[in-house]
Amino acid sequence: MSHPILACRDVCKLYGPRAERFVRDGKLAAEPSALAEAGVTAATLNVSLEIERGETFVIMGLSGSGKSTLVRILSGLTPPTAGVVLFEDRDLASMSEHELIQIRRHQMGMVFQHFALLPHLTVLGNVAFPLEIQGRPRTEREARAREMITLVGLDGREGRFPRELSGGQQQRVGIARSLAAGPDLWFLDEPFSALDPLIRREMQDEVLRLQGLLKKTIVFITHDFDEATRIADRIVIMKDGRVEQVGSAEELVLKPATDYVRAFTRDAPRAKILTARAVLAPAPPGGDFAGEVAATARIASFARDVERATKPFAVTEGGKLLGVVDRLAMIDVLVGHADRAA
Ligand SMILES: Nc1ncnc2c1ncn2[C@@H]1O[C@H](COP(=O)(O)OP(=O)(O)O)[C@@H](O)[C@H]1O
Ligand SMILES: [Mg+2]
Repeated sequence: MSHPILACRDVCKLYGPRAERFVRDGKLAAEPSALAEAGVTAATLNVSLEIERGETFVIMGLSGSGKSTLVRILSGLTPPTAGVVLFEDRDLASMSEHELIQIRRHQMGMVFQHFALLPHLTVLGNVAFPLEIQGRPRTEREARAREMITLVGLDGREGRFPRELSGGQQQRVGIARSLAAGPDLWFLDEPFSALDPLIRREMQDEVLRLQGLLKKTIVFITHDFDEATRIADRIVIMKDGRVEQVGSAEELVLKPATDYVRAFTRDAPRAKILTARAVLAPAPPGGDFAGEVAATARIASFARDVERATKPFAVTEGGKLLGVVDRLAMIDVLVGHADRAA
């Protein structure tokens, strides 16, 4: 049995004067048109998810699909209209306000799109701020803040004010601040959406690097599928407050559960997402191979070698031969659904 660090079941958040009544009357399964007629906005509708300890879980969807609402519910900032949220198997609704605040302060870190730094505090002051709220002594919180500032590569800028930093640097401060209290759960709500594409990539690499070091559980929100595929272990695709599909990037690309997911993943960089496992063919008898690739290796990492070779490559997992990849199989999957898309 797995024990997710965070889970939610049938979580709904409805807005509008008649939202509560709508839930009481058991009308949650109603058609979207019925909701609209009743003047009810469903920000999230019947969302059930399980987030495993140590995974990077991405919530993906267009603007207005309910991502921020969901993350506010998961972090205990907003109570759901209906449904349950479990943090380490405990129902958030059963906790006192005090307990919730303690969990948010000590076990959760948050990064927001617009940085939300305090303009009158220096970099050091901003990063140390969560520890100040916790009532830690000055020397301790400043030592910890300096550690975090080094971690995100801002050494030497401790005394600057937010307005003296670039967008990317400001978000590094936001990241350092969110990690200062040593959270188990790290929430990032479209943290890089306000940044230029190049800086954005750099910041994605930064998250990957930090995750390699710190091994947090990450809940990362984005509306950009490329960004999602770069950092995610698993992705949930949301539409109009509902879950369309949950899976790895590879699963979403190969087995889209809905037309919406299919459309979303159609232009995804397949070679960077799909693994050798997705393209393997049965091994011919005799076993004369040009080389070997791991079943989990992304196609982009070996495509050139396979393309140049006259013989197929063996695909292995744990020393076992699973099959082979050759040029034809690769091309087939890479351009695979082009015909269907036409
Ligand atoms: N406080 C609120 N009152 C009324 N409607 C809201 C409120 N917060 C969010 N919504 C609505 O809920 C939907 C989802 O919003 P949001 O969670 O912010 O989406 P996203 O983060 O994916 O852009 C939107 O239609 C939004 O207008
Ligand atoms: Mg949002």
